[in-house]
Amino acid sequence: MTRDLSTASPLEVLDHALATFGRDAALSFSGAEDVLLIEYAAQTKRPFRVFSLDTGRLHPDTYRYFQAVEKHYDLRIEYCVPDAIALQDLVRAKGLFSFYDDGHKECCDIRKVAPLRHQLSGLKAWVTGQRRDQSPTRGTVPVHQIDPVFNGLGGGDLHKFNPLANTTSEEVWLAIRALGVPYNPLHERGFVSIGCEPCTRPVLPSQHEREGRWWWEESTKKECGLHAGNLK
Ligand code: ADX
Ligand code: SF4
Repeated sequence: MTRDLSTASPLEVLDHALATFGRDAALSFSGAEDVLLIEYAAQTKRPFRVFSLDTGRLHPDTYRYFQAVEKHYDLRIEYCVPDAIALQDLVRAKGLFSFYDDGHKECCDIRKVAPLRHQLSGLKAWVTGQRRDQSPTRGTVPVHQIDPVFNGLGGGDLHKFNPLANTTSEEVWLAIRALGVPYNPLHERGFVSIGCEPCTRPVLPSQHEREGRWWWEESTKKECGLHAGNLK
């Protein structure tokens, strides 16, 4: 079903994923530099779907940026929202910032992982912006894999494409600027990796991008469950 893509360019990977899976595939867009996936998908001239996990805690700039991306590419992002009762139970029991006290897992599970699981259960393939240089936990991320954690449509195998796996942060930014791709204005204020507002902060020059995420936790555990298969 899927040829060897390990040395294919990001555009080739996206073209292959969309040609093979059509509307059974979707791009997972966080509102950061993974916008490059949307640019390449548009360049294939094939129809494509984009979804975002709206945790309710994203930066205001990110919400505005989603709207700008929708306009620029003439698309509607499929927003995935958390289960209201599960969220209500958590914040009534522990307040709005429990992750600073007992770790991000519980909140991420409700706001990100469960909505992602639901979204993926209707797909045969998803496309992410994961890169090997992004995190100590992502050093061996392949361009294509069968998702080791989530199931797809009908409980079957789910293909996971990481077209930027071999691409460096520098190459991503060269492409974004050369192609005139709209980017999140937070990047102009020292943010490199961008997630939820309370759990993301800018980094200093030469600081690793992951140090701006869940900075109160240990770096080898910094996955929120979306890509839990990276943790051995
Ligand atoms: S995270 O797991 O630590 O939050 P990261 O921010 O590095 O992930 O992003 C890696 C990839 O995961 C993104 O390029 C995107 O494909 C997916 N992703 C992360 N956050 C979201 C989100 N809120 N909505 C949709 N996809 C996301
Ligand atoms: Fe909650 Fe922070 Fe995870 Fe967002 S990143 S879902 S606010 S713990």
